[in-house]
Amino acid sequence: DPTPVDPAKDAAARAAVALVENGMKLGLGTGSTAKIFVDRLAERVHAEGMDLRLASTSKATADQARALGLVVEELDDLGWLDLTIDGADEVDPDLNLIKGGGAAHLREKIVATASDRMVVVADGGKVVDMLGKFKLPVEVIPFGWESTRTHIERVLTDLGMEGRPVVLRQKDGKPVITDEANYILDLALEEIHDAPRLARALNAIAGVVEHGLFLNICQLAIIGRPDGTVVELLR
Ligand code: A5P
Repeated sequence: DPTPVDPAKDAAARAAVALVENGMKLGLGTGSTAKIFVDRLAERVHAEGMDLRLASTSKATADQARALGLVVEELDDLGWLDLTIDGADEVDPDLNLIKGGGAAHLREKIVATASDRMVVVADGGKVVDMLGKFKLPVEVIPFGWESTRTHIERVLTDLGMEGRPVVLRQKDGKPVITDEANYILDLALEEIHDAPRLARALNAIAGVVEHGLFLNICQLAIIGRPDGTVVELLR
């Protein structure tokens, strides 16, 4: 891998690997920090001959883990998980999160909420006082997505965020397609003052599959620093 490893992300990933115990059922997250975690986890599994059962939040992470010699199973073959380790795009002081920068937040939320514990690994740049600077990803059904966008715009108006851009995520001029074959709308909100209310309103729209607000899901955030130390934020 020619990409140099970010020392802050690596510090968080290493601290998270230390939380893993033999015999655990573990959920693997998605994104660049989760990727480092999976690399470090594989090193430990091989060095110690650990026996884990793994489920993944994305095809990308499953492919990575298998290439490292790990066995990845279906979530429903594992049942309930002990622990999920994942990255985040924003972390607020109550450990509420924005996720989905990598378009994986639907499976990420299913896996995280099927776990006793969700732990976030991130660098300090992700820690914010209030969620919303990072564009909130919302996964929507392709059928009728423009009317779904209209519903989302009305929700934003109702919540005092009239006119905030709601943009279809594209790559090379084509809509980004999620692992569940849906589209992503990115909501440029700047500040989310009432995340629970926004979450409820978005979930009430027919074409919305899932939004990237993770409220009361994460119990611990391990924030890595460039000097290799970590700070733990607990809820
Ligand atoms: C994937 O959809 C996201 O939720 C990621 O977990 C998030 O984007 C964090 O990724 P990085 O660790 O690459 O910042």
